[in-house]
Amino acid sequence: MEIFKIVKDNKASIREASKPITMPLDEKLKTTLLDMIEYLKLSQDEDWSKEHNVRSGVGLAAPQIGMNINMLAIYYLDEKNKEHEFAFVNPKIISTSVKLAYLAGGEGCLSVDKEHPGYVYRPYKVTMKAFNLLTNKEEEHVFTGFGSMVFQHEFDHLKGVLFYDHIDKDDPMKKIPGAIEL
Ligand code: NI
Repeated sequence: MEIFKIVKDNKASIREASKPITMPLDEKLKTTLLDMIEYLKLSQDEDWSKEHNVRSGVGLAAPQIGMNINMLAIYYLDEKNKEHEFAFVNPKIISTSVKLAYLAGGEGCLSVDKEHPGYVYRPYKVTMKAFNLLTNKEEEHVFTGFGSMVFQHEFDHLKGVLFYDHIDKDDPMKKIPGAIEL
């Protein structure tokens, strides 16, 4: 497993748009994407993350490891301790809900060391499609709630967008009526 050096937001490449990946996925990229999942899993292990001085994360997009290409990894456990893991290549958003949601504690990012307090509003529900390396299939997924926030955060990275771009500069804690707090 590769311990990636995470690209921080002071590097210009984190702001660049990523390029589509030619399919079928070559073996090297397969290994990298699976390592990205493994990195997230390990980052959530307290002992491992301490030992390697790695911050805990639930998502990682290729630009964050220095590759401006359209792939991203997601790994998190829900409140029932069920695993949710995805290794997406060339993800596309098909539709989003009008209803918005936000994380009560704000968002964080492995590429962002500075605190950026404020709410990040995103569609509560997103329908997307991508090739998922974990199933080796082109898949459609509907993400809601926390999963939707995570997916959209990672998808943003492929466009060079960071979470704090979404925070209202004049009123970071602005409440949008009807938005669901997560
Ligand atoms: Ni991020």
